[in-house]
Amino acid sequence: MKEDVKRLLVREAIQAREKAYAPYSGYTVGAALISKDGAIYHGCNIENASFGATNCAERTALFKAVSEGEREFKAIAISGGLKGKAATEYAYPCGICRQALSEFATKDLVVLVAKSEEDFKEYRLEQLLPYAFGGESIN
Ligand code: THU
Repeated sequence: MKEDVKRLLVREAIQAREKAYAPYSGYTVGAALISKDGAIYHGCNIENASFGATNCAERTALFKAVSEGEREFKAIAISGGLKGKAATEYAYPCGICRQALSEFATKDLVVLVAKSEEDFKEYRLEQLLPYAFGGESIN
């Protein structure tokens, strides 16, 4: 992946974070997911008074994309931190989001965790979710 595309994706994740609805935790997350064809889908965390109904930013972006017909992805960028403040830590995707991504991603899906456009780390999904449980086990 080209560096300028990575930076663009990170910038869009940081922007998507502004839409987060997080009145309970005060922790806002944004995600930007790019398909193989270059379409970008955005997501934010959406909390609920019934905490278990909360949806993470990564799954918001993934479900938006899949519901629009996308099935193949190149990369996802994620940024999170205390509401209204710049990210001070890298926000890694939670276990459920790693599993949800692995359903549609190949092992080489690029995962960018960003503090800012200039400061982000790059992983492959396989590094974050080795030995993933997949559909081949139940087919
Ligand atoms: N959250 C995400 O959006 N993505 C993650 O991968 C981890 C956690 C959200 C859920 C909740 O609204 C807040 O961060 C605190 O857990």
